[in-house]
Amino acid sequence: MLNSYHSLISNSPSDLTTYSNTTAFLMETLPNCNWVGFYFVHNNQLILGPFQGKVACEVIPFDKGVCGHVATTKKPIIVDDVHLFPGHIACDEASQSEMVIPLFYNDEFIGVLDIDAPIKNRFTNEDLKYTQDITKRMFQEIKKGNLLP
Ligand code: SME
Repeated sequence: MLNSYHSLISNSPSDLTTYSNTTAFLMETLPNCNWVGFYFVHNNQLILGPFQGKVACEVIPFDKGVCGHVATTKKPIIVDDVHLFPGHIACDEASQSEMVIPLFYNDEFIGVLDIDAPIKNRFTNEDLKYTQDITKRMFQEIKKGNLLP
């Protein structure tokens, strides 16, 4: 799988292209997911970036939702049941479980990758490792990091 991803993004013409195809690749390779996307840090908030899935909230404060939680802790999280997570933001009401990982570019925290599933208990530590391996490979291709000005 990582080899296919490597072929997909090698020699990508822009960071936007790389981020966009990364969301599509994860959506295709992680079964039973309904939303995959990036939020980038901008003015101490998270702003919606490239994604796959239903329209989503555009701005998430650091103290709101699972994404904001990860922006604060800078640690990945697997939420087995989003309805039990205080302050969870429901962009797609079908979402039942969620995995969010922090993103670092040259040691700077630049945003999060958010993946939602329409079933509870969807994400395993193996999924987390797989997604982290993908983002590690992604950052070998990324030139500027955060897409926002
Ligand atoms: N559920 C997220 C918000 C983003 S959407 O799911 C796309 C959260 O609680 O931070």
